[in-house]
Amino acid sequence: MAFSTAEQLGPKPPAVGPRGLPFVGASLQFRRDPTGFLLHLARVCGDLVEFRLMGCPAFFFGHPDYVREILVTRQANFTKSRILQRARLLLGEGLLTNEGESHLRQRRLVQPAFYHQRLQSYAEIITTYTLRARERFEPQTELDILDEMMRLTLSIVAKALFSTDAEGDASAVSQALDHVEDRFRFLLLPFSDLLTWLPLPPTRRFERAKAVLDRTVYRIIRERRAASGASADLLSALLAARDEEGSAMTDEQVRDEVLTLFLAGHETTAIGLTWTWYLLAQNPHCEQRLHDEIDGVLHGRAPRFDDIPSLRYTEMVLAESMRLYPPVWTIGRMPKEAFELAGVTIPQGAICLMSQFVMHRDPRFYPDPERFDPERWHPDIRESRPKFAYFPFGGGARLCIGERFAWMEMILVLATLCQKWRFLLVDDQPVGLKPLITLHPDRSIQMLAEPRERSTENETMTGEGDREDR
Ligand code: HEM
Repeated sequence: MAFSTAEQLGPKPPAVGPRGLPFVGASLQFRRDPTGFLLHLARVCGDLVEFRLMGCPAFFFGHPDYVREILVTRQANFTKSRILQRARLLLGEGLLTNEGESHLRQRRLVQPAFYHQRLQSYAEIITTYTLRARERFEPQTELDILDEMMRLTLSIVAKALFSTDAEGDASAVSQALDHVEDRFRFLLLPFSDLLTWLPLPPTRRFERAKAVLDRTVYRIIRERRAASGASADLLSALLAARDEEGSAMTDEQVRDEVLTLFLAGHETTAIGLTWTWYLLAQNPHCEQRLHDEIDGVLHGRAPRFDDIPSLRYTEMVLAESMRLYPPVWTIGRMPKEAFELAGVTIPQGAICLMSQFVMHRDPRFYPDPERFDPERWHPDIRESRPKFAYFPFGGGARLCIGERFAWMEMILVLATLCQKWRFLLVDDQPVGLKPLITLHPDRSIQMLAEPRERSTENETMTGEGDREDR
C-alpha cells in the first residue's frame, strides 16, 4: 500500500507559501479559485504552510496529524473562523456558530434528537418522501439534479425534524439560501466588515433573504405550538429541553437551533447526493454493482432502517463520492492563544485552514486520487489510513451532530431511487466546482431520468469512456 510506512505518513516540514499582494496577501488568488489554491499549497509547499489572507497571518494544515491536533487534541484553544462567526448574522447562537460553555449546553440539549430510536422514525419519513419523489419523475425528462435533491432533502429535514410539510416553501427557502451564500462570497472580500454597514445590494439582498427564512421558521414554530398533542420531532424536544438548572431555551434560542438544523441539514446532503449521481453516471460498472446490491438486499420492496447495515456497497459509493466532492470542503479555526506546532509558532487570531477537499485527494492516502473507486472503503483498507485522512463531518467537540442522520438519509435515498431510475448526463462537458460554504457544481447538472427496466438496452449519454467501461 502506498501509505504503509511511518516515513511516508509523516508530515512534510513547514513552508512559507505565496504572499500575494501587500496587505491583502493571497486573498485574490484564494477568492478566484479556493480549492485550486489550497491544493497548490499542499502539493507544492507542504503540510504546514504559512501565507497571508485578508491582511492576516494564515496557516494551511495538510496532514491528518495536524488536523487531529486542531480539531481534537487542542480544540479548547480554538474558536470558529471569522467568516463562520459572521454567520451569526443569520444563525444567531445556533450550534454551528455558538462557542464555549454555551455551545456545550446547547449541544447537550439538542443531542437526544439524534438518538437511535429517533433515527429509526426518521428513516420511515425519508423513505416515504423519496418514494413520492420517485413517482414524480417522468421517463426521458431532463432535470436539474441539484434542484431535485434540494427539494427532496428540504422536505425530509422539515418533516423529520419539525413535523411540518415544507415542500411548498422549498423554492422560497432555496432562493433565500442562494442570496445568503452570495453574501458569504462577499464576506470573503478584504474590508468586508466595513462594507457590511453600507446599504449595498448584497447587504439588502441578505436582509431580504433573512426575512424570508425567519418568516418560514417562525411559522413552523407557531404551527407546532398550536398543534394539540405531543410530537416526537426535534422541535418538541427543543421546546421541552431543560438544562441542569431546569431552564428552558428562549424563543430566540429555539429559532437559532431550528434555523441552524434546517440549513445545515438539507443543503449538505443534497450536494452529496448530486455529486454521487454525477459520478455514477460516469462509472456504469459501479452503478451496476450498486443496482445488484440493492436488488439483492431489497427484492423490490422499499428500504427500511434495518436494511442499512446490509447496503454496504451503497455506503462505499457514498463514502467515495464524499471523498472526491466533500459537501463541506474546508474548516477554519482561530487560536485564542498562540501555540506551537511542528516548531512553528501560530499567533493568536491567525486563520487556520484545513481542507477536506485537499486531504481527500492526497496521493499518500489515496493512490490515483482522481479515480472514483468505492473499493477504497473496504474495512481493511479503510482501517489502514489515519483517521483524519477522511473527515467530511469534521471532528472533536464540533463533529457534525447530524452525521448519522446524513449517512442514513443518503443511503436510503440512493437505494430508493436506484430501484426505479437511472440518471444519465445529457452532455459530456466536465462540471467544475463552485466552492461556497458547500461544494456546489459550477453549473447546473442536467440529467435524463431513465426507468431502470429499459436502461440495459440503452447506452449512457456520457461519451466514449463510458462505453469502454461497460
Ligand atoms: C453530507 C451531509 C453533511 C455534511 C458533509 C456535514 C458536515 C459538517 C461539518 C464538516 C461540520 C463541522 C464544521 C466545523 O467543525 O466547523 C458540521 C457541523 C454541523 N452539522 Fe453537519 N453535515 C452534514 C449533514 C448534517 C445534517 C443532516 C444535520 C442536521 C440534521 C447537520 C447539522 C450540523 C450541525 C448542527 C453542526 C454544528 C455542530 C456543532 O458545532 O456542535 N449536518 N457538519
